[in-house]
Amino acid sequence: MSQRNVSETETAIKERARKVLPGGGFGNVTFDVVIKEGKAGRVWDESDNEYIDFLLGSGPMLVGHGHADVQAAVLDQVSKGATFFVNNAHGIELAEEICKAVACADKVRFVSTGSEATFYAMRVARAYRGLDKILKFEGGFHGMSDYALMSMAPARPGNFPQATPDTAGIPSKIRDDILIAPFNDADTAVSLIREHADELGGIIVEPLQRMIPPASGFLEALREIATATGIPLIFDEVVTGFRFAYGGAQEYYGVVPDICALGKVVGGGYPLACVAGRDDIMAHFDASEVGAGRAVKQTGTLSGNPVAAAAGLATLEVLRGEGTYEYLFASGQKLMDGLTASITKHGLQAQIMGLPPMFDILFTSDKVIDYRGAMKSDRTLGKRFNELILAGGILKGDNKFYVSTAHTDADIDEGIAICDAALAQIADEAT
Ligand SMILES: Cc1ncc(COP(=O)(O)O)c(C=O)c1O
Repeated sequence: MSQRNVSETETAIKERARKVLPGGGFGNVTFDVVIKEGKAGRVWDESDNEYIDFLLGSGPMLVGHGHADVQAAVLDQVSKGATFFVNNAHGIELAEEICKAVACADKVRFVSTGSEATFYAMRVARAYRGLDKILKFEGGFHGMSDYALMSMAPARPGNFPQATPDTAGIPSKIRDDILIAPFNDADTAVSLIREHADELGGIIVEPLQRMIPPASGFLEALREIATATGIPLIFDEVVTGFRFAYGGAQEYYGVVPDICALGKVVGGGYPLACVAGRDDIMAHFDASEVGAGRAVKQTGTLSGNPVAAAAGLATLEVLRGEGTYEYLFASGQKLMDGLTASITKHGLQAQIMGLPPMFDILFTSDKVIDYRGAMKSDRTLGKRFNELILAGGILKGDNKFYVSTAHTDADIDEGIAICDAALAQIADEAT
């Protein structure tokens, strides 16, 4: 397996980073690589090492880096100005396209990041209900707000429904407003929702939680209890939106929430995300409809930014092209199958979890249906695998392979070969 060459230029950049950035980085990934350029399904670092990019900027670059149509749309808007704070035609057209594509979307409110989108989705649900509490699932990731960072990755999971904060700095009172349920356990979730129905403002869930698919009937059970109690069901589709299908996970799984949070793909690689949802709930973003006392305050300097909206629109147009999702799913499936074959060949206790556009390897052969199951996988081996494939020429996130429509058959074949070599080495190191 080849070793990454680190140039003097890259070493100097890293030294400068350590002086001005806590931990020497942006806080996003555990590995220390400085990327300077990307094209289609590949990226290059400051030492000119080339990687197959299965990180995709943590997901937004679904049509690959530097797609000609996206670039043209961005450059056209940049030549006219970067941001205005008031309405612009690109943003309005993007909202129209989201409403056409996404089943739950009657109206759209733009923000800049996925964290804001889930934060405002929860706030608007609470405003609609006039109630404070939110039920989320253990292991579910909804970004960085005080409400989201509860029992996302507890080292010692507690008793349901008590929440465990995932970070220092969250006011202690907030944990009392978040109830935690086990993912994929419909009976427990439904009984908690029933028990706390008169306190709950909303229920938030990742339809596919990290890499864990929903068990048959799980999302349907949430839909049913949400309808029965009138509690808004929020799908966090920041990752799954426009990725699992053009209409997101709600199209893929055939379960429609009341509100969803979208991010990543919808901004085409630029800072844009949104809350989208049912008319009567979204009305709470408009004081003239619901009255000042029940209205949600929300503004953002870059909300609906025209450059980001142009990039998002161009990205969605590419995704609407014939055969795009078939190609994406076929490429991802080939990579998943290649990895599964290597796991078997090398006799490893591991499995591939997720869907073709987005998945990861988990070093356990036990069936995983929730966070506690995933916790039992061998994370040291997961880390070792990531180190080995990075050295071999694959960039991926700590917990995810993202596949794009720009990855060629050759990218996938080479990816399989790099992963196979890494898994062979892991098997060797174990003996
Ligand atoms: C499911 C989910 N929700 C929310 C977020 C937060 O999005 P952002 O990083 O844009 O704030 C992420 C980010 O990866 C995510 O995966």
